[in-house]
Amino acid sequence: MTKQMKSRQRVTEHGEVFTAEREVNAMLDLVKQETERVDSRFLEPACGDGNFVVEILRRKLTAAKKSATPPKRKKPQPFEFEKQSLIAISSIYGVDLLMDNVIVCRQRLYDIWNNEYEAVCKAEVNDECKNAVRFILSRNIVCGNALTLMCVDENQQDTTIPIVFSEWTLPFNDTRIQRKDYSFAELLASAENEDKFRNTGQLNLFVDENGEGEPKFLQQYIFDYKKYQDYDYTQKSKGGIQVEV
Ligand SMILES: C[S@@+](CC[C@H](N)C(=O)[O-])C[C@H]1O[C@@H](n2cnc3c(N)ncnc32)[C@H](O)[C@@H]1O
Repeated sequence: MTKQMKSRQRVTEHGEVFTAEREVNAMLDLVKQETERVDSRFLEPACGDGNFVVEILRRKLTAAKKSATPPKRKKPQPFEFEKQSLIAISSIYGVDLLMDNVIVCRQRLYDIWNNEYEAVCKAEVNDECKNAVRFILSRNIVCGNALTLMCVDENQQDTTIPIVFSEWTLPFNDTRIQRKDYSFAELLASAENEDKFRNTGQLNLFVDENGEGEPKFLQQYIFDYKKYQDYDYTQKSKGGIQVEV
């Protein structure tokens, strides 16, 4: 049994075969420019324990370091890197049927982000930012069925809860994060309409505001991650501070 398989039963039941690093890199190189852009969005609809998304994050964090380094300086500025790294990690999405894969995938992404964050930001490192990243990952890497677009239970059966993805932006030049929630079904329908219009052959989730097929969002929130005590990360109160739009 190679590392690309956990068990024969999982291969038979869920088609679980992991892609080796060399193939992952070769495939990502086909869209190299996008993988090296801090804010390009990636969705892996059968992400497993994260082989593709972790490599995408590594590339994005390299770009984040460059973009946070002022001209004629060698080192990135801590606050700017913190912001760029938040943009990088929050633009990566994944879905998998198996909860154990989802948990490992979130943790691998977190560890890669945290290693870079601590190496770059040193004394400026703060728990509020780390909590925000954990929260973002809990929403971006979803245990669900990418065919039915529904969340699944521990037996991989559809629940009645649709998969919802959040679009994260930091539009205010401070530590406030804007989150807009969209159902996966709405995002796909809108992206398909957009592609029929533009005929690019590539689905574009969360199309920009001038896009023809802009999806309808469910809710919008704005929260300041440095004041995380005001924000309910457990989502018991519908996701914390809600801002009317
Ligand atoms: C072939 S593995 C690939 C994993 C990862 N993308 C990689 O290349 O290493 C397929 C993964 O898809 C998941 N899966 C199978 N059917 C799925 C579905 N309908 N929705 C979401 N995930 C699914 C399995 O649990 C498994 O982890």
